[in-house]
Amino acid sequence: MPSVASIGNLNYDIYLKTPELPGLDQSVEALELYTGGGGSAANFAVAITRLGVRAKFIGAVGDDFLGDIALRDLASEGVDVSSVKKIKGMRSGVVVVLVHPDGGKRMIAYRGANMGLSPDDIGGEALAEVDHVHVASGRVEIILRAKELAKEMGKSISVDGGTALAKKGLEVASKALAGVDVVFMNQAEARLLAEAKDHREALDVIAKRIEAKEIVVTLGDKGALAISGGEFIYVDAFRLQPVDTTGAGDTFAAAYISARLRGRSLYERLLFANAAASLKVSRPGARSSPKYEEVIYFLRSLGYKI
Ligand code: RIB
Repeated sequence: MPSVASIGNLNYDIYLKTPELPGLDQSVEALELYTGGGGSAANFAVAITRLGVRAKFIGAVGDDFLGDIALRDLASEGVDVSSVKKIKGMRSGVVVVLVHPDGGKRMIAYRGANMGLSPDDIGGEALAEVDHVHVASGRVEIILRAKELAKEMGKSISVDGGTALAKKGLEVASKALAGVDVVFMNQAEARLLAEAKDHREALDVIAKRIEAKEIVVTLGDKGALAISGGEFIYVDAFRLQPVDTTGAGDTFAAAYISARLRGRSLYERLLFANAAASLKVSRPGARSSPKYEEVIYFLRSLGYKI
């Protein structure tokens, strides 16, 4: 069975479903409340475990009860949490997710103990037994450390730098991402990074400036595309009734990497990842990603020979 290490944030997510946002000194009623484990890197670890890949999570929590719940939750999914740093006197990461009834979300993040993870906490021993390293963080020092180790140890590496990395601009991002095997970003991040008005212009700039083997851009309910070796490949999404898009990108990245580790073609990776992400979006919470058999069943029921 292939195995990965996922490096980055672990949060406790609190979701409120609401059609409107309050103005200053006002309040609105929430239609639904739900809670659960979150954090992009931790979500990736859970999603890829469900897809039949062993996962280790490398990150940090505080010494509070939300950190304990978040860690217990990860361990109960079969994720190896032996390399998680517990920081005394710090609060664990908490994110309030405001989910619109159409499935879109807005997030307010308190990073807390996540910021206490330092590059020195990422050691060769933790990565010794894995085939692939995934970084879901916009912190350049963390990306560079993980990349240095992965290259030294002959592991493949993927990076999802999110909005945090895109905000740092092309100069910084292109240095951080040079030599990475797979780079993930969504279309808003692509436009922000390239300072482009639409995603076509953004892709041109990104394809020229980011020297990664594969650059994968997710386009929400329009699917996803990959740029690899000067070639562009696009695969449309599956449109299921959206409930909550939180964590869709994490599920997409996990499904893509699981298919890559299994030697699937670029087209099959995008197809499998689109299917997994669409199933996730049809359910509440960042950790509602599907199991391997479910994705295969879904695709075969639509006539795909996978
Ligand atoms: O990628 C989704 C995640 O982003 C949520 O689980 C939330 O914790 C935020 O970090």
